[in-house]
Amino acid sequence: MSIKKEIARRRTFGIISHPDAGKTTLTEKLLLFGGAIQEAGAVKSNKIKKGATSDFMEIERQRGISVATSVLAFEYNGTKINILDTPGHKDFAEDTFRTLTAVDSVIVVIDVAKGVEEQTEKLVQVCRMRKIPMIVFVNKLDREGKDAFELLDEIEQKLDLHVTPLSFPIGMGYDFKGIYNIWEKNVNLFSGDSRKNIEETIEIEDLNSEELDTLIGNESAETLREELELVTGVYPDFDQEAYSKAEQQPVFFGSALNNFGVRELLDCFISIAPPPRPKESEERVVKPEEKDFTGFVFKIHANMDPKHRDRLAFVKIVSGVFERNTPYLHVRNGKKLKFSSPNAFFAERKEIVDISYPGDIVGLHDTGNFKIGDTLTQGEEIHYKGIPSFSPEHFRYINNADPLKSKQLAKGIDQLMDEGVAQLFTLELNGRKVIGTVGALQYEVIQYRLEHEYGAKCTYEPLSVHKACWVEPKDPKSEEFKDFLRVKQRFMAKDKRGQLVFLADSPFTLQVTQQKYPNVKLHFVSEFK
Ligand code: G4P
Repeated sequence: MSIKKEIARRRTFGIISHPDAGKTTLTEKLLLFGGAIQEAGAVKSNKIKKGATSDFMEIERQRGISVATSVLAFEYNGTKINILDTPGHKDFAEDTFRTLTAVDSVIVVIDVAKGVEEQTEKLVQVCRMRKIPMIVFVNKLDREGKDAFELLDEIEQKLDLHVTPLSFPIGMGYDFKGIYNIWEKNVNLFSGDSRKNIEETIEIEDLNSEELDTLIGNESAETLREELELVTGVYPDFDQEAYSKAEQQPVFFGSALNNFGVRELLDCFISIAPPPRPKESEERVVKPEEKDFTGFVFKIHANMDPKHRDRLAFVKIVSGVFERNTPYLHVRNGKKLKFSSPNAFFAERKEIVDISYPGDIVGLHDTGNFKIGDTLTQGEEIHYKGIPSFSPEHFRYINNADPLKSKQLAKGIDQLMDEGVAQLFTLELNGRKVIGTVGALQYEVIQYRLEHEYGAKCTYEPLSVHKACWVEPKDPKSEEFKDFLRVKQRFMAKDKRGQLVFLADSPFTLQVTQQKYPNVKLHFVSEFK
Protein backbone atom coordinates (compact mmCIF):
# COMPACT_ATOMS: atom_id res chain seq x y z
CA MET A 1 0.00 0.00 0.00
CA SER A 2 1.30 3.47 -0.78
CA ILE A 3 2.31 5.77 2.04
CA LYS A 4 -0.55 8.11 1.14
CA LYS A 5 -3.09 5.33 1.61
CA GLU A 6 -1.47 4.26 4.86
CA ILE A 7 -1.71 7.81 6.18
CA ALA A 8 -5.31 8.25 5.05
CA ARG A 9 -6.44 5.14 6.95
CA ARG A 10 -4.88 6.10 10.27
CA ARG A 11 -6.69 7.71 13.20
CA THR A 12 -4.59 8.57 16.25
CA PHE A 13 -6.55 9.97 19.16
CA GLY A 14 -6.91 10.25 22.90
CA ILE A 15 -9.92 9.86 25.17
CA ILE A 16 -10.12 12.53 27.83
CA SER A 17 -12.39 12.76 30.82
CA HIS A 18 -12.64 13.40 34.50
CA PRO A 19 -11.87 10.19 36.44
CA ASP A 20 -14.84 7.80 36.61
CA ALA A 21 -16.73 9.23 33.64
CA GLY A 22 -16.07 5.96 31.80
CA LYS A 23 -12.89 6.39 29.75
CA THR A 24 -11.58 2.90 30.50
CA THR A 25 -14.94 1.29 29.82
CA LEU A 26 -15.31 3.11 26.52
CA THR A 27 -11.76 2.19 25.46
CA GLU A 28 -12.51 -1.41 26.19
CA LYS A 29 -15.68 -1.40 24.12
CA LEU A 30 -13.93 0.26 21.21
CA LEU A 31 -11.35 -2.51 21.31
CA LEU A 32 -14.11 -5.11 21.31
CA PHE A 33 -15.41 -3.71 18.03
CA GLY A 34 -11.96 -3.95 16.56
CA GLY A 35 -11.81 -7.58 17.64
CA ALA A 36 -8.64 -6.58 19.44
CA ILE A 37 -9.78 -8.15 22.68
CA GLN A 38 -12.14 -11.03 23.18
CA GLU A 39 -13.92 -10.01 26.29
CA ALA A 40 -14.68 -7.10 28.52
CA GLY A 41 -12.39 -6.53 31.48
CA ALA A 42 -9.20 -6.93 29.47
CA VAL A 43 -8.25 -3.28 29.63
CA LYS A 44 -6.96 -2.50 33.05
CA SER A 45 -7.77 0.83 34.46
CA ASN A 46 -4.60 2.61 35.49
CA LYS A 47 -6.28 5.16 37.59
CA ILE A 48 -5.23 5.60 41.15
CA LYS A 49 -8.09 4.99 43.49
CA LYS A 50 -8.75 7.36 46.33
CA GLY A 51 -6.83 6.61 49.50
CA ALA A 52 -4.06 4.77 47.74
CA THR A 53 -1.84 7.81 47.42
CA SER A 54 0.68 6.68 49.98
CA ASP A 55 0.75 3.08 48.86
CA PHE A 56 3.95 2.87 46.86
CA MET A 57 3.39 -0.62 45.64
CA GLU A 58 0.05 0.44 44.35
CA ILE A 59 1.62 3.34 42.50
CA GLU A 60 4.23 1.07 41.02
CA ARG A 61 1.67 -1.50 40.02
CA GLN A 62 -0.41 1.18 38.40
CA ARG A 63 2.56 2.55 36.57
CA GLY A 64 3.47 -0.91 35.36
CA ILE A 65 0.01 -1.36 33.96
CA SER A 66 0.03 1.97 32.27
CA VAL A 67 2.94 0.86 30.05
CA ALA A 68 0.68 -1.80 28.63
CA THR A 69 -2.13 0.62 28.00
CA SER A 70 -0.05 3.59 26.89
CA VAL A 71 -0.95 2.98 23.26
CA LEU A 72 -3.66 0.65 22.04
CA ALA A 73 -3.75 -0.04 18.34
CA PHE A 74 -6.37 -1.98 16.44
CA GLU A 75 -7.92 -2.33 13.01
CA TYR A 76 -11.56 -1.59 12.35
CA ASN A 77 -13.16 -1.67 8.89
CA GLY A 78 -9.85 -1.05 7.18
CA THR A 79 -8.90 1.80 9.51
CA LYS A 80 -5.84 1.61 11.74
CA ILE A 81 -6.78 3.13 15.06
CA ASN A 82 -4.24 4.22 17.67
CA ILE A 83 -5.65 5.18 21.06
CA LEU A 84 -3.18 7.03 23.27
CA ASP A 85 -3.79 6.71 26.97
CA THR A 86 -4.29 9.93 28.87
CA PRO A 87 -4.29 9.57 32.66
CA GLY A 88 -7.38 11.17 34.16
CA HIS A 89 -5.89 11.60 37.63
CA LYS A 90 -5.03 15.25 38.12
CA ASP A 91 -1.58 14.53 39.51
CA PHE A 92 -0.67 13.16 36.11
CA ALA A 93 -2.21 16.02 34.15
CA GLU A 94 1.15 17.04 32.73
CA ASP A 95 1.53 13.56 31.25
CA THR A 96 -1.83 13.98 29.60
CA PHE A 97 -0.98 17.45 28.28
CA ARG A 98 2.11 16.02 26.62
CA THR A 99 0.23 13.10 25.15
CA LEU A 100 -2.18 15.59 23.62
CA THR A 101 0.71 16.86 21.47
CA ALA A 102 0.74 13.45 19.77
CA VAL A 103 -2.98 13.02 19.01
CA ASP A 104 -4.79 14.12 15.87
CA SER A 105 -8.18 14.30 17.58
CA VAL A 106 -9.87 13.48 20.89
CA ILE A 107 -13.07 12.02 22.28
CA VAL A 108 -14.31 13.74 25.42
CA VAL A 109 -16.33 11.52 27.79
CA ILE A 110 -18.87 13.19 30.06
CA ASP A 111 -20.95 11.55 32.78
CA VAL A 112 -24.63 12.35 32.13
CA ALA A 113 -25.34 12.83 35.83
CA LYS A 114 -22.23 14.76 36.80
CA GLY A 115 -22.00 16.88 33.69
CA VAL A 116 -18.84 18.86 33.00
CA GLU A 117 -16.25 18.22 35.72
CA GLU A 118 -13.02 19.94 36.67
CA GLN A 119 -10.47 17.76 34.84
CA THR A 120 -12.57 17.80 31.69
CA GLU A 121 -12.54 21.58 31.75
CA LYS A 122 -8.76 21.75 32.01
CA LEU A 123 -8.09 19.16 29.33
CA VAL A 124 -10.64 20.55 26.89
CA GLN A 125 -9.09 23.97 27.33
CA VAL A 126 -5.75 22.58 26.18
CA CYS A 127 -7.40 20.90 23.17
CA ARG A 128 -9.20 24.11 22.30
CA MET A 129 -5.97 26.10 22.43
CA ARG A 130 -4.27 23.57 20.17
CA LYS A 131 -7.27 23.38 17.86
CA ILE A 132 -7.63 19.63 18.24
CA PRO A 133 -10.89 18.30 16.75
CA MET A 134 -13.17 16.92 19.48
CA ILE A 135 -16.15 14.59 19.60
CA VAL A 136 -18.15 14.50 22.85
CA PHE A 137 -19.60 11.24 24.19
CA VAL A 138 -22.20 11.63 26.93
CA ASN A 139 -22.02 8.41 28.93
CA LYS A 140 -24.14 6.44 31.42
CA LEU A 141 -27.52 7.10 29.81
CA ASP A 142 -28.78 3.98 31.58
CA ARG A 143 -28.72 6.09 34.75
CA GLU A 144 -30.74 9.09 35.76
CA GLY A 145 -28.95 12.22 34.73
CA LYS A 146 -29.33 15.73 33.43
CA ASP A 147 -31.75 16.60 30.68
CA ALA A 148 -30.03 16.35 27.27
CA PHE A 149 -30.63 20.00 26.33
CA GLU A 150 -29.50 21.21 29.73
CA LEU A 151 -26.33 19.17 29.36
CA LEU A 152 -25.63 20.46 25.85
CA ASP A 153 -25.96 23.99 27.23
CA GLU A 154 -23.58 23.20 30.06
CA ILE A 155 -21.03 21.74 27.63
CA GLU A 156 -21.20 24.87 25.48
CA GLN A 157 -20.89 27.22 28.40
CA LYS A 158 -18.38 25.53 30.66
CA LEU A 159 -16.19 24.14 27.90
CA ASP A 160 -16.65 26.99 25.50
CA LEU A 161 -17.54 24.62 22.65
CA HIS A 162 -19.98 24.81 19.76
CA VAL A 163 -21.84 21.54 19.78
CA THR A 164 -24.15 19.76 17.41
CA PRO A 165 -25.77 16.50 18.52
CA LEU A 166 -25.35 13.61 16.08
CA SER A 167 -27.40 11.27 18.21
CA PHE A 168 -30.18 11.88 20.70
CA PRO A 169 -31.38 9.84 23.67
CA ILE A 170 -34.90 8.46 23.88
CA GLY A 171 -35.60 8.71 27.59
CA MET A 172 -33.02 8.20 30.28
CA GLY A 173 -32.25 6.07 33.31
CA TYR A 174 -35.16 3.76 34.12
CA ASP A 175 -37.01 4.99 31.03
CA PHE A 176 -34.06 4.77 28.69
CA LYS A 177 -35.45 3.33 25.47
CA GLY A 178 -32.64 3.88 23.05
CA ILE A 179 -30.99 6.37 20.80
CA TYR A 180 -31.96 8.10 17.63
CA ASN A 181 -28.90 8.34 15.41
CA ILE A 182 -29.15 11.70 13.66
CA TRP A 183 -26.00 10.97 11.68
CA GLU A 184 -27.28 7.71 10.16
CA LYS A 185 -31.02 8.36 10.59
CA ASN A 186 -31.87 5.19 12.45
CA VAL A 187 -33.08 4.07 15.82
CA ASN A 188 -31.22 1.85 18.18
CA LEU A 189 -33.31 0.26 20.90
CA PHE A 190 -31.90 -0.38 24.34
CA SER A 191 -32.61 -3.80 25.71
CA GLY A 192 -30.26 -3.71 28.66
CA ASP A 193 -28.53 -6.91 27.65
CA SER A 194 -26.40 -5.53 24.88
CA ARG A 195 -23.25 -5.81 26.97
CA LYS A 196 -21.99 -8.73 24.98
CA ASN A 197 -23.90 -8.35 21.75
CA ILE A 198 -23.48 -5.65 19.22
CA GLU A 199 -26.89 -4.01 18.93
CA GLU A 200 -29.09 -4.09 15.90
CA THR A 201 -30.29 -0.84 14.46
CA ILE A 202 -33.59 -0.11 12.80
CA GLU A 203 -33.62 2.24 9.84
CA ILE A 204 -36.20 5.01 10.11
CA GLU A 205 -36.87 6.64 6.75
CA ASP A 206 -39.41 9.10 8.05
CA LEU A 207 -39.62 10.31 11.62
CA ASN A 208 -43.35 10.87 11.22
CA SER A 209 -44.04 7.29 10.26
CA GLU A 210 -46.04 5.11 12.61
CA GLU A 211 -43.17 2.71 12.74
CA LEU A 212 -41.55 4.95 15.34
CA ASP A 213 -44.68 4.83 17.51
CA THR A 214 -44.75 1.08 17.30
CA LEU A 215 -41.13 0.84 18.27
CA ILE A 216 -40.99 3.15 21.25
CA GLY A 217 -44.63 3.94 22.08
CA ASN A 218 -46.74 6.97 21.16
CA GLU A 219 -45.66 9.18 23.99
CA SER A 220 -41.93 8.64 23.52
CA ALA A 221 -42.28 8.99 19.76
CA GLU A 222 -44.05 12.34 20.14
CA THR A 223 -41.46 13.62 22.61
CA LEU A 224 -38.63 12.50 20.34
CA ARG A 225 -40.16 14.26 17.33
CA GLU A 226 -40.48 17.46 19.32
CA GLU A 227 -36.96 17.20 20.68
CA LEU A 228 -35.46 16.53 17.28
CA GLU A 229 -37.31 19.51 15.87
CA LEU A 230 -35.77 21.60 18.60
CA VAL A 231 -32.34 20.12 17.84
CA THR A 232 -32.70 21.09 14.18
CA GLY A 233 -33.88 24.55 15.14
CA VAL A 234 -31.22 25.29 17.73
CA TYR A 235 -28.07 23.51 16.56
CA PRO A 236 -26.27 23.92 13.23
CA ASP A 237 -25.86 20.99 10.84
CA PHE A 238 -22.69 19.01 11.17
CA ASP A 239 -19.92 20.78 9.29
CA GLN A 240 -16.84 18.67 8.54
CA GLU A 241 -14.57 21.65 8.08
CA ALA A 242 -15.69 23.36 11.26
CA TYR A 243 -15.14 20.11 13.19
CA SER A 244 -11.65 19.66 11.70
CA LYS A 245 -10.75 23.22 12.68
CA ALA A 246 -12.05 22.62 16.22
CA GLU A 247 -14.83 25.13 15.66
CA GLN A 248 -17.66 22.62 16.05
CA GLN A 249 -17.98 19.53 18.23
CA PRO A 250 -20.39 16.71 17.45
CA VAL A 251 -22.04 15.02 20.44
CA PHE A 252 -23.08 11.38 20.87
CA PHE A 253 -25.08 9.80 23.69
CA GLY A 254 -24.78 6.26 24.99
CA SER A 255 -23.79 3.88 27.70
CA ALA A 256 -20.28 2.49 27.46
CA LEU A 257 -20.89 -0.14 30.10
CA ASN A 258 -23.81 -1.51 28.11
CA ASN A 259 -21.93 -1.16 24.87
CA PHE A 260 -24.73 1.05 23.70
CA GLY A 261 -24.21 3.92 21.28
CA VAL A 262 -20.54 2.98 20.99
CA ARG A 263 -20.67 1.56 17.47
CA GLU A 264 -22.41 4.73 16.26
CA LEU A 265 -19.66 6.76 17.83
CA LEU A 266 -16.92 4.62 16.31
CA ASP A 267 -18.45 4.55 12.82
CA CYS A 268 -18.85 8.28 12.76
CA PHE A 269 -15.40 8.76 14.28
CA ILE A 270 -13.59 6.80 11.56
CA SER A 271 -15.42 8.67 8.86
CA ILE A 272 -14.97 12.22 10.18
CA ALA A 273 -11.86 12.20 12.41
CA PRO A 274 -8.74 13.56 10.75
CA PRO A 275 -5.85 11.35 9.61
CA PRO A 276 -2.36 12.42 10.75
CA ARG A 277 -1.93 16.14 10.18
CA PRO A 278 1.01 18.32 9.18
CA LYS A 279 3.03 19.50 12.18
CA GLU A 280 4.77 22.75 12.84
CA SER A 281 8.44 22.70 13.70
CA GLU A 282 10.72 25.60 14.54
CA GLU A 283 12.06 25.43 10.98
CA ARG A 284 8.98 24.67 8.85
CA VAL A 285 5.68 22.80 8.61
CA VAL A 286 6.29 19.09 7.99
CA LYS A 287 3.71 17.10 6.02
CA PRO A 288 2.99 13.43 6.78
CA GLU A 289 3.39 12.34 3.16
CA GLU A 290 6.95 13.66 2.90
CA LYS A 291 9.46 10.97 1.97
CA ASP A 292 11.83 11.44 4.88
CA PHE A 293 11.02 10.13 8.31
CA THR A 294 10.60 12.55 11.22
CA GLY A 295 9.11 11.96 14.65
CA PHE A 296 9.23 13.22 18.21
CA VAL A 297 9.32 11.78 21.72
CA PHE A 298 6.20 12.62 23.73
CA LYS A 299 6.50 10.15 26.56
CA ILE A 300 9.22 8.19 28.31
CA HIS A 301 8.45 5.22 30.44
CA ALA A 302 10.84 3.69 32.90
CA ASN A 303 11.32 -0.02 32.93
CA MET A 304 10.01 -1.35 36.18
CA ASP A 305 12.50 -4.18 36.28
CA PRO A 306 15.49 -2.82 38.27
CA LYS A 307 17.84 -5.29 36.52
CA HIS A 308 17.18 -3.61 33.20
CA ARG A 309 17.38 0.09 33.70
CA ASP A 310 16.44 0.85 30.11
CA ARG A 311 13.45 2.97 29.33
CA LEU A 312 10.91 3.06 26.59
CA ALA A 313 10.67 6.30 24.59
CA PHE A 314 7.38 6.74 22.76
CA VAL A 315 7.83 8.35 19.37
CA LYS A 316 4.98 9.71 17.27
CA ILE A 317 5.78 9.41 13.59
CA VAL A 318 5.04 12.69 11.85
CA SER A 319 6.31 12.07 8.31
CA GLY A 320 7.78 9.37 6.09
CA VAL A 321 8.24 5.78 7.18
CA PHE A 322 10.15 4.59 10.19
CA GLU A 323 12.18 1.46 9.54
CA ARG A 324 13.90 -0.95 11.87
CA ASN A 325 17.72 -1.02 11.88
CA THR A 326 18.01 2.27 10.00
CA PRO A 327 20.19 5.04 11.41
CA TYR A 328 18.28 8.19 12.35
CA LEU A 329 19.53 11.53 13.57
CA HIS A 330 18.88 12.44 17.19
CA VAL A 331 18.70 16.16 16.48
CA ARG A 332 19.45 17.48 19.98
CA ASN A 333 22.73 15.63 20.46
CA GLY A 334 23.67 15.20 16.81
CA LYS A 335 24.13 11.42 17.14
CA LYS A 336 22.93 8.81 14.67
CA LEU A 337 20.99 6.05 16.37
CA LYS A 338 19.75 2.69 15.08
CA PHE A 339 16.92 0.72 16.63
CA SER A 340 16.94 -3.04 16.33
CA SER A 341 13.73 -3.72 18.22
CA PRO A 342 11.19 -0.90 17.88
CA ASN A 343 7.91 -1.85 19.49
CA ALA A 344 4.43 -1.36 18.16
CA PHE A 345 1.55 -1.62 20.57
CA PHE A 346 -1.57 -3.69 20.30
CA ALA A 347 -4.40 -4.21 22.68
CA GLU A 348 -2.78 -6.86 24.80
CA ARG A 349 0.78 -7.06 23.61
CA LYS A 350 3.68 -5.22 22.12
CA GLU A 351 5.54 -6.49 19.14
CA ILE A 352 8.68 -5.69 17.18
CA VAL A 353 7.84 -3.94 13.92
CA ASP A 354 9.86 -3.45 10.77
CA ILE A 355 8.01 -0.47 9.43
CA SER A 356 5.66 2.20 10.81
CA TYR A 357 3.76 5.07 9.22
CA PRO A 358 2.75 8.61 10.18
CA GLY A 359 0.23 8.54 12.99
CA ASP A 360 1.77 5.40 14.47
CA ILE A 361 3.60 5.28 17.75
CA VAL A 362 6.79 3.28 18.15
CA GLY A 363 8.39 2.45 21.47
CA LEU A 364 12.18 2.67 21.38
CA HIS A 365 14.42 1.15 24.02
CA ASP A 366 16.54 3.89 25.46
CA THR A 367 19.46 3.88 27.84
CA GLY A 368 19.25 7.58 28.61
CA ASN A 369 19.57 9.30 25.25
CA PHE A 370 16.09 10.74 25.07
CA LYS A 371 14.23 13.60 26.68
CA ILE A 372 10.63 14.47 26.17
CA GLY A 373 10.34 16.69 23.10
CA ASP A 374 13.39 15.25 21.29
CA THR A 375 13.15 14.95 17.51
CA LEU A 376 14.41 12.10 15.32
CA THR A 377 14.90 12.64 11.59
CA GLN A 378 16.59 11.18 8.57
CA GLY A 379 19.20 13.94 8.71
CA GLU A 380 17.37 17.25 8.58
CA GLU A 381 17.65 19.61 11.54
CA ILE A 382 14.02 19.77 12.62
CA HIS A 383 12.84 20.73 16.08
CA TYR A 384 9.19 20.04 16.78
CA LYS A 385 7.31 22.63 18.77
CA GLY A 386 4.59 22.23 21.24
CA ILE A 387 5.77 20.24 24.22
CA PRO A 388 5.80 23.03 26.78
CA SER A 389 6.14 22.68 30.52
CA PHE A 390 3.42 24.29 32.59
CA SER A 391 4.03 25.96 35.90
CA PRO A 392 3.93 23.26 38.58
CA GLU A 393 1.43 23.54 41.44
CA HIS A 394 3.69 22.26 44.23
CA PHE A 395 7.28 23.14 45.07
CA ARG A 396 9.73 21.61 47.53
CA TYR A 397 13.48 21.73 48.13
CA ILE A 398 15.09 18.36 47.55
CA ASN A 399 17.97 17.39 49.84
CA ASN A 400 20.45 14.55 49.67
CA ALA A 401 19.90 12.18 52.61
CA ASP A 402 22.94 10.01 51.95
CA PRO A 403 26.13 11.99 51.26
CA LEU A 404 27.88 8.90 49.88
CA LYS A 405 25.32 8.65 47.12
CA SER A 406 25.28 12.18 45.75
CA LYS A 407 26.27 11.04 42.25
CA GLN A 408 23.45 8.52 42.16
CA LEU A 409 21.04 11.17 43.37
CA ALA A 410 22.11 13.62 40.67
CA LYS A 411 21.78 10.98 37.97
CA GLY A 412 18.42 9.81 39.28
CA ILE A 413 17.01 13.33 39.41
CA ASP A 414 18.35 14.03 35.95
CA GLN A 415 16.74 10.98 34.40
CA LEU A 416 13.43 11.33 36.20
CA MET A 417 13.18 14.91 34.98
CA ASP A 418 13.92 13.74 31.41
CA GLU A 419 10.99 11.39 31.77
CA GLY A 420 8.87 14.37 32.72
CA VAL A 421 7.92 13.07 36.17
CA ALA A 422 8.46 16.58 37.61
CA GLN A 423 10.39 19.77 36.93
CA LEU A 424 13.69 20.80 38.42
CA PHE A 425 14.62 24.40 39.21
CA THR A 426 18.05 25.42 40.44
CA LEU A 427 18.17 28.59 42.51
CA GLU A 428 20.56 31.19 41.10
CA LEU A 429 21.63 32.43 44.51
CA ASN A 430 22.83 29.24 46.17
CA GLY A 431 22.41 26.38 43.69
CA ARG A 432 19.75 24.65 45.80
CA LYS A 433 17.49 22.33 43.90
CA VAL A 434 13.72 22.70 43.87
CA ILE A 435 11.34 20.06 42.54
CA GLY A 436 8.06 21.29 41.11
CA THR A 437 5.16 18.92 40.48
CA VAL A 438 1.54 19.01 39.39
CA GLY A 439 0.38 16.83 42.27
CA ALA A 440 1.70 15.88 45.69
CA LEU A 441 1.76 12.23 44.67
CA GLN A 442 4.81 12.74 42.50
CA TYR A 443 7.04 13.48 45.50
CA GLU A 444 6.40 10.00 46.83
CA VAL A 445 6.94 8.45 43.42
CA ILE A 446 10.26 10.31 43.04
CA GLN A 447 11.50 9.36 46.49
CA TYR A 448 10.58 5.74 45.96
CA ARG A 449 12.11 5.54 42.51
CA LEU A 450 15.33 7.31 43.54
CA GLU A 451 15.80 4.73 46.25
CA HIS A 452 14.80 1.64 44.29
CA GLU A 453 16.19 2.45 40.88
CA TYR A 454 19.23 4.59 41.71
CA GLY A 455 20.10 3.65 45.29
CA ALA A 456 19.83 7.28 46.41
CA LYS A 457 17.95 8.78 49.31
CA CYS A 458 16.31 12.18 49.45
CA THR A 459 14.28 14.32 51.80
CA TYR A 460 12.10 17.32 51.03
CA GLU A 461 11.74 20.71 52.65
CA PRO A 462 8.74 22.94 52.20
CA LEU A 463 9.05 26.04 50.06
CA SER A 464 6.35 28.55 49.55
CA VAL A 465 5.98 29.20 45.84
CA HIS A 466 2.75 30.11 44.12
CA LYS A 467 3.83 29.88 40.49
CA ALA A 468 6.90 29.40 38.35
CA CYS A 469 7.07 32.12 35.71
CA TRP A 470 9.33 31.92 32.69
CA VAL A 471 10.92 35.31 32.24
CA GLU A 472 11.06 37.19 28.96
CA PRO A 473 12.55 40.69 29.14
CA LYS A 474 11.71 43.07 26.31
CA ASP A 475 15.29 44.28 26.48
CA PRO A 476 17.74 42.16 28.48
CA LYS A 477 20.10 45.15 28.79
CA SER A 478 17.49 47.57 30.14
CA GLU A 479 17.76 49.14 33.61
CA GLU A 480 14.28 47.80 34.34
CA PHE A 481 15.40 44.20 33.80
CA LYS A 482 18.59 44.70 35.80
CA ASP A 483 16.55 46.10 38.65
CA PHE A 484 14.13 43.15 38.41
CA LEU A 485 17.03 40.68 38.66
CA ARG A 486 18.55 42.51 41.63
CA VAL A 487 15.34 42.90 43.61
CA LYS A 488 14.12 39.39 42.90
CA GLN A 489 17.51 37.74 43.26
CA ARG A 490 16.33 35.32 45.95
CA PHE A 491 13.52 34.06 43.76
CA MET A 492 15.37 33.55 40.50
CA ALA A 493 16.11 30.06 39.22
CA LYS A 494 17.01 28.19 36.05
CA ASP A 495 14.93 25.36 34.69
CA LYS A 496 16.48 22.21 33.26
CA ARG A 497 16.99 23.78 29.86
CA GLY A 498 18.72 26.79 31.38
CA GLN A 499 15.77 29.16 30.94
CA LEU A 500 15.33 31.88 33.53
CA VAL A 501 12.42 31.40 35.92
CA PHE A 502 10.95 33.64 38.59
CA LEU A 503 9.41 31.75 41.51
CA ALA A 504 6.61 34.02 42.73
CA ASP A 505 5.64 33.28 46.31
CA SER A 506 2.06 34.57 46.16
CA PRO A 507 -0.57 35.84 43.72
CA PHE A 508 -0.06 39.25 45.30
CA THR A 509 3.71 39.28 44.62
CA LEU A 510 3.00 38.23 41.09
CA GLN A 511 0.56 41.04 40.52
CA VAL A 512 2.80 43.67 42.06
CA THR A 513 5.81 42.43 40.09
CA GLN A 514 3.91 42.54 36.82
CA GLN A 515 2.84 46.11 37.54
CA LYS A 516 6.28 47.26 38.59
CA TYR A 517 8.09 45.66 35.62
CA PRO A 518 5.75 45.97 32.64
CA ASN A 519 8.58 45.22 30.19
CA VAL A 520 9.50 41.94 31.82
CA LYS A 521 7.00 39.40 30.62
CA LEU A 522 6.14 36.53 32.96
CA HIS A 523 4.83 33.35 31.31
CA PHE A 524 3.24 30.35 33.00
CA VAL A 525 4.32 28.07 30.17
CA SER A 526 7.92 27.37 29.21
CA GLU A 527 7.33 27.76 25.49
CA PHE A 528 6.24 31.24 24.52
CA LYS A 529 8.04 32.23 21.36
P1 G4P B 1 -12.54 6.18 34.00
O1 G4P B 1 -11.64 5.29 33.22
O2 G4P B 1 -13.03 7.37 33.23
O3 G4P B 1 -12.04 6.56 35.33
O4 G4P B 1 -13.90 5.36 34.28
P2 G4P B 1 -14.23 3.81 34.19
O5 G4P B 1 -14.36 3.38 32.79
O6 G4P B 1 -13.32 3.05 35.07
O7 G4P B 1 -15.70 3.85 34.78
C1 G4P B 1 -15.99 4.32 36.08
C2 G4P B 1 -17.19 3.61 36.65
O8 G4P B 1 -18.34 3.92 35.85
C3 G4P B 1 -17.06 2.08 36.63
O9 G4P B 1 -17.75 1.60 37.76
C4 G4P B 1 -17.81 1.71 35.38
O10 G4P B 1 -18.30 0.38 35.42
C5 G4P B 1 -18.93 2.72 35.40
N1 G4P B 1 -19.52 2.96 34.06
C6 G4P B 1 -18.88 3.20 32.89
N2 G4P B 1 -19.76 3.37 31.88
C7 G4P B 1 -20.99 3.24 32.42
C8 G4P B 1 -22.31 3.29 31.88
O11 G4P B 1 -22.54 3.49 30.69
N3 G4P B 1 -23.33 3.12 32.76
C9 G4P B 1 -23.13 2.89 34.09
N4 G4P B 1 -24.21 2.72 34.85
N5 G4P B 1 -21.90 2.82 34.62
C10 G4P B 1 -20.84 2.99 33.80
P3 G4P B 1 -17.01 1.24 39.11
O12 G4P B 1 -18.03 0.63 39.98
O13 G4P B 1 -16.26 2.40 39.63
O14 G4P B 1 -15.92 0.23 38.64
P4 G4P B 1 -16.06 -1.29 38.31
O15 G4P B 1 -15.99 -1.93 39.64
O16 G4P B 1 -17.39 -1.48 37.63
O17 G4P B 1 -14.91 -1.54 37.42
